[in-house]
Amino acid sequence: MIENKVINIIQKLISDILDNSITHLEAEKNLNEIHAHFKEITKITGYDFSIENMAAIPAAKGKALGLNFAAQCLLDYKRTVKFLRAIATVILEKQKIQPNTLIKVFYAGCGPYATLFTLVAPYFKPEEVQFSLLEINKNAVISAKKLIDSLDLNEHIKDFYTADAITFKVPEADTFDILISETLDALLYRECYVPILINLLPQFKKDIVLIPQNVILNMSFVSETKNEEVSKECDLGSLFNVRDAISGIENSKGIPSQLPVFKMNLPSLNMGFYDTFLLDTKVHIYNDIWLTRNESSLTIAHNFKLEKPFKNSAAIFTYFMEPEIELKIKFE
Ligand SMILES: C[S@@+](CC[C@H](N)C(=O)[O-])C[C@H]1O[C@@H](n2cnc3c(N)ncnc32)[C@H](O)[C@@H]1O
Repeated sequence: MIENKVINIIQKLISDILDNSITHLEAEKNLNEIHAHFKEITKITGYDFSIENMAAIPAAKGKALGLNFAAQCLLDYKRTVKFLRAIATVILEKQKIQPNTLIKVFYAGCGPYATLFTLVAPYFKPEEVQFSLLEINKNAVISAKKLIDSLDLNEHIKDFYTADAITFKVPEADTFDILISETLDALLYRECYVPILINLLPQFKKDIVLIPQNVILNMSFVSETKNEEVSKECDLGSLFNVRDAISGIENSKGIPSQLPVFKMNLPSLNMGFYDTFLLDTKVHIYNDIWLTRNESSLTIAHNFKLEKPFKNSAAIFTYFMEPEIELKIKFE
């Protein structure tokens, strides 16, 4: 364990973030300070060049982010602040609905700092909230355990599994109230959020609160015109909604190699005007808490050149989980 003085400093930094009492800029400063303490305790900086800490870990489908990149997520400021506030909000809401009842959280993919646990748990008593953690990367588990020990948070932990969330069977799954899995990247590329949900969600109660609640991919046509008076972007709407896309899948049949194809009919537009199409990732964290375009590495918008002349009337989207996890687009 580290000195109580350091634990108190970290707790104050956390509660300032969770209380909504500080601005985003101040929250950034707090997260940098927290990161300095976590680096010191775990010896994981997130920025070394060791191959082992950089390498992605193969999962049953897709790949888990390398340990360094998982550590760096702490400093994806808006992401971290929004996730932390969302999780604290859900716990407080649950406490109102079911006072004096232990709230149980399953956290799949905790990373080397177990950020969405270590920065939430100190806000609550161990009799109020208990977490079960799961992580595929054994070195991340070692680091997270060291941090949890040092911060004296063991009483908040029920179990800690080193396992692949895509195949894991959760013991006593129906006792959990909240499921957290921030295992995603922009455009749901490579990482395991979708197959993890296909495996885990059906194991829990129907009313389990999932964080993030959903991920929606959106498409628009964009013009590079310099004319300030015309709208440069035409929003074509959602092309992929994870919760809708996985709702009909039976997990007893295993994880499918691809999800059902989605065809988007394109409106008739003056296509000479548009130069690129843009794909956006919107992360719906909880209720009115969203991560929107370019707020985080998870929501970086990707722009692609349109072939000219563009004469297609539909866009066909397929989300593959084999041989790699990726979204493919075809125009017809
Ligand atoms: C994007 S990082 C997020 C880390 C941390 N939860 C946070 O929010 O800062 C995702 C973490 O999930 C883990 N992960 C990804 N796929 C996984 C899987 N299939 N099973 C278990 N853990 C997984 C990665 O190893 C990584 O540590």
